[in-house]
Amino acid sequence: MARILVTGASGLLGINFAQEIMTSHEIVALDRGKLVNAPFRVLKSDLLTPGAVDSALDSAQPDWVVNCAALADIDTCEDYPDLARRLNTELPAQFAKACKSRGIPLVHISTDAVFDGRAVAFYTEEADPNPLSVYARTKLEGEQAVLAENPDAIVARVNFYGWSLSGRRSLAEFFFNNLSGRKSMTGFTDVRFCPMLVNDTARMLVRMLEKGLRGLYHVVGPQAMSKYHFGVEIARKFGFKENEIAPKSINTSSLIAKRSNNLCLSINKLCTDLDEIPPDFSTGLDKLYAQFRQGYPQKIRSYQQVEGETGIQANR
Ligand SMILES: NC(=O)c1ccc[n+]([C@@H]2O[C@H](COP(=O)([O-])OP(=O)(O)OC[C@H]3O[C@@H](n4cnc5c(N)ncnc54)[C@H](OP(=O)(O)O)[C@@H]3O)[C@@H](O)[C@H]2O)c1
Repeated sequence: MARILVTGASGLLGINFAQEIMTSHEIVALDRGKLVNAPFRVLKSDLLTPGAVDSALDSAQPDWVVNCAALADIDTCEDYPDLARRLNTELPAQFAKACKSRGIPLVHISTDAVFDGRAVAFYTEEADPNPLSVYARTKLEGEQAVLAENPDAIVARVNFYGWSLSGRRSLAEFFFNNLSGRKSMTGFTDVRFCPMLVNDTARMLVRMLEKGLRGLYHVVGPQAMSKYHFGVEIARKFGFKENEIAPKSINTSSLIAKRSNNLCLSINKLCTDLDEIPPDFSTGLDKLYAQFRQGYPQKIRSYQQVEGETGIQANR
């Protein structure tokens, strides 16, 4: 059993990583103060405070680090490019350097958004990125900084869906919330991606650490689909009417940041090096539905401070 320091533990990936992996490894979750009732140890820290990276490593004494902290909202990055640079580029570089000097294996999380989407095929790790937004540029620069500081680190380009603390963070929740509230919504027919259930992403990342992999990897689902089709699959699985989702082109959307319309990544390198194929889309979707039936969304949300609550409970 390894002790894993997980940053960004209140985020969509971080909270599900901690929840999924805590049965097989010891989790130390780093959070800015949202988590109060978590069933794993929580370190409270703002990682932009000088010295925070070293303090976290000194305090947690981890065997592995998984850096999920980021400014991950694409449009917010356009409004706050300096904050995006600090969180998505400089902070990962600090973790890479600190982990290198302490001999701690690091996974840094990046994104499929580093590509401009012009390719017709799936992007491999060798394909040239061409970021279209502040988010994508700062994430790409983060990848480069991590691997320059620490070539032994794993940089994982991901795309995932699942249940979040806020209930509003993932694309699956977007469709679920609108469908269950009978609100009209659109789905992009011309943006294709390879979604993976976030719990499966967590397990793949741990398998990569256990196998001692290093370098750049694409860690996404094995099937490509449009965002519209993804919404239709959510509707079918949860028993909602799929015709509540109106097909739409991203070219007619009012989103702030420029987005790529081909986010399809090849996972051949991952499958070869792990000797394993990640679960297919329908298996992930079945699990998302089973989680819903078993009260998983409510369970992870119970780990956070309720709005208006003032007392901070001791973290275990
Ligand atoms: N969501 C996706 O589908 C997707 C797709 C591709 C790549 N990714 C990548 O996956 C990673 C995780 O994404 P996510 O969706 O889980 O993001 P998220 O839900 O927005 O979580 C980001 C996390 O970073 C934390 N954080 C931000 N500033 C911090 C600071 N100064 N100190 C400490 N923690 C701080 C946040 O804490 P607070 O809650 O306190 O703000 C939050 O826990 C990111 O690297 C992202 O680029 C995500």
